[in-house]
Amino acid sequence: MKAWLLLVAAFLLWPGCSSQKACEEPDEIDFGEIVSAEKAKYLENDRVQYRCNPSYVLEGPEWIQCKGQEWTPHPPKCLAPCSITRQQLAAKNLFLFGNQRKARLIQSDHSLQFQCNEGYVLVVPSVRKCVDGYMDFPLCISERGKNCSGPPRTENGDITTLSEKQYRSGSSVEFRCQTYYAIGGQNRSFCNNGTWTKVPNCLDPCMIPRTELESQKIEVKDEIGAPENIFVQHGHSIELTCRTGYVLAANSSQSAFVIHCDGTPPVIPKCKEITCNSPRISNGTFRPQRTIYHDEDLIQIQCDSGFTFDPDNGEKVVECTKNGWSPPLKCISGRDLGQGTA
Ligand SMILES: *[C@@H]1O[C@H](CO)[C@@H](O)[C@H](O)[C@H]1NC(C)=O
Ligand SMILES: *[C@@H]1O[C@H](CO)[C@@H](O)[C@H](O)[C@H]1NC(C)=O
Ligand SMILES: *[C@@H]1O[C@H](CO)[C@@H](O)[C@H](O)[C@H]1NC(C)=O
Ligand SMILES: *[C@@H]1O[C@H](CO)[C@@H](O)[C@H](O)[C@H]1NC(C)=O
Ligand SMILES: *[C@@H]1O[C@H](CO)[C@@H](O)[C@H](O)[C@H]1NC(C)=O
Repeated sequence: MKAWLLLVAAFLLWPGCSSQKACEEPDEIDFGEIVSAEKAKYLENDRVQYRCNPSYVLEGPEWIQCKGQEWTPHPPKCLAPCSITRQQLAAKNLFLFGNQRKARLIQSDHSLQFQCNEGYVLVVPSVRKCVDGYMDFPLCISERGKNCSGPPRTENGDITTLSEKQYRSGSSVEFRCQTYYAIGGQNRSFCNNGTWTKVPNCLDPCMIPRTELESQKIEVKDEIGAPENIFVQHGHSIELTCRTGYVLAANSSQSAFVIHCDGTPPVIPKCKEITCNSPRISNGTFRPQRTIYHDEDLIQIQCDSGFTFDPDNGEKVVECTKNGWSPPLKCISGRDLGQGTA
C-alpha cells in the first residue's frame, strides 16, 4: 500500500522533477556549512548561503549562485582563529598589552599588542595579526645576554644609528636602503645574546632605460624633468603613455599603460604611429590627396553634385584619429537627406 502511494506521489511530482538540473551539489567547506535550505536539484539562478563555525571568519562570498551550470563565485573559506595560551606567553617571556597573561582566542585578521617581561626587549613590531590560525609572536631578548660586535651590513643599504664598538643584548641598529631601493623586512636588527637578528635586505629597483622609451615612442605620464633613466622601486608602479600621435601596437584603443616592478625585468610595450590610409569615397572627392595621413590630419570633402556630406558639420572636414577617419566619409544623395526633414 505504501509503495503504491509513493509511486503515485512520484508520478504527480514527476513534471516538476524533470526540469533540467543545472548545477551539481554546492561544495562543502571546512569549518563552515551551508545554511540555506538543501535542495534535491539546483537550477539556474538558485542561490546557496554559507556560514562559518563560531570564531571562524568568512573569506569570500556568503552567497553563491548557479549560473550556466557553475557555482559563481567560488565558495568562501572559513579562516581559523588563533588560540593563545598562558603557557605560550610565559615560555616566550611575553604579556598581552596591559600586563595580562591569560588564554585568548582571537579572530583571523584581528591583532594583539604584546609586551615583554621586565629585563627583556621586544623585537618590533609589538602588534601582531592573526592570519588564518597563525600568529608570529614577537621575540623578547634578555638584556643579560652577551654583547654583540659590529652589526652585519646589507647590500645597497646603510645603518642610520650611531656606530659602537660593542652592542648590549637588546640594543638595535636601524637600516635604510639607498635611493630607489626598497626595504625587505623590518628596518631594525637586534643584538640577541651575541648574535644579530635578521638584517633587512634592499630590493633592486626596476630600471627603464630612457633610450628604450625613446625608441618605442613612450613618455612618462606627468613627468617633470627627464632623468637619464627611470627607476621604479620594488613593489611600486609607473604610468607610461605613448607619445601624442601614437597608440599601443597591441591595442590601438589605448595609449597609456602601467609597469609594475615585482622583481622581474619589466616588459616595455611598443607604440605605433596613428595613421590613416587614403580613404575611399563614393559620390565625392577629397583634398589633399596622399597615400598616408597622420594623427589629426584633416581632409576636406567635396561631394558630387546632387550629394551632400553627412553629417553636414559645415566644414565638410574629416579627421584622422586612432579609430580611423572621423566622422566616416559619406556623401549621400540630396533626396535621402531631404526625406528626414521634409
Ligand atoms: C646566551 O647564550 C648562551 C649560549 O650561547 C646561553 O647559555 C645563555 O643562557 C644565553 N643567555 C641568555 C640571557 O639568554
Ligand atoms: C657590553 O657593552 C657595553 C656597552 O657597549 C659595555 O659597557 C660592557 O662592558 C660590555 N660588556 C661586556 C661583558 O663586554
Ligand atoms: C623604520 O620602520 C619604522 C616602523 O616601520 C618607521 O617608523 C621608521 O621611520 C623606519 N625608519 C627608517 C629609517 O626608514
Ligand atoms: C584595449 O583597450 C581597451 C580600453 O582600455 C579595453 O577595453 C580592451 O579590452 C583592450 N583590448 C584588448 C584586446 O586588450
Ligand atoms: C554613388 O555611389 C554609389 C556607390 O558607390 C554608386 O553605386 C552610384 O552610382 C554613385 N552615384 C553617382 C551619381 O555617381
